[in-house]
Amino acid sequence: MALDLDTIAARAAQLADRDPRDILQIALDEYAPSVAISFSGAEDVALIDMAASIGRPFQIFSLDTGRLHPETYRFLDTVRDRYGVPIDIYFPQPDAVERLVREKGLFSFYRDGHKECCGIRKVEPLVRALTPLAAWITGQRQDQSPGTRAAIPVVQIDRTFGTPDRPLVKFNPLARWTSQQVWAYIRAHDVPYNPLHDRGFISIGCEPCTRPVNPGQHEREGRWWWEEETRKECGLHAGNVEAPAVR
Ligand code: ADX
Ligand code: SF4
Repeated sequence: MALDLDTIAARAAQLADRDPRDILQIALDEYAPSVAISFSGAEDVALIDMAASIGRPFQIFSLDTGRLHPETYRFLDTVRDRYGVPIDIYFPQPDAVERLVREKGLFSFYRDGHKECCGIRKVEPLVRALTPLAAWITGQRQDQSPGTRAAIPVVQIDRTFGTPDRPLVKFNPLARWTSQQVWAYIRAHDVPYNPLHDRGFISIGCEPCTRPVNPGQHEREGRWWWEEETRKECGLHAGNVEAPAVR
């Protein structure tokens, strides 16, 4: 696939209405072994089930911030066992975490905003995870965040983590699926899911920064609830805020 913005935008338009599994297959066909699924331990597990059904080897990585729910840690191993695939876990740099908590304590994000902690615990490990890759696959969806994700395409150039010298493609195969479609898939295919979803959690991130939502509340209201809607990107998908995606 040519890697200029116009070509990728045209490709995104062409693939927009394709089934997520087809988009996943294209990502694996074109980029394996230099492509990996970025798995958060939430309903993006549907991507792993789809990839397993394609029947060719695929890679998964997960960013362990050190602050995930116990249920999420157990779920990562459930998925590993169920699909018989390793999950590459990336940890933050100990020195950086130690410095942050020594200077500011364990909950500085409630006062200072989440950017600093997410930078250390998520973004820096993500940079290391992406370094050997030409493409990555996320579970982002347009309906997850009206403020920041409403226009994400099924495939895009990652201008946050890629560079002109080392371009990076980002596939979002579920971009145009709704939450209901993802859950219909999970039920229909008997896919294991994080038990937090049965306790009112819709979007799942770190334990101190995630809470269940009430019926009628948008899922993003359960994330970083003390901050503005437009700032609710932790840095993994900062491009959604900084440079509006081309559809
Ligand atoms: S976040 O940026 O706000 O934390 P969100 O929880 O909506 O992201 O998840 C969207 C996608 O980002 C996930 O489907 C996954 O691809 C990726 N992602 C989020 N958190 C992680 C994580 N801890 N490890 C790996 N990928 C993640
Ligand atoms: Fe830190 Fe919260 Fe970001 Fe997790 S979500 S890395 S605990 S600020």
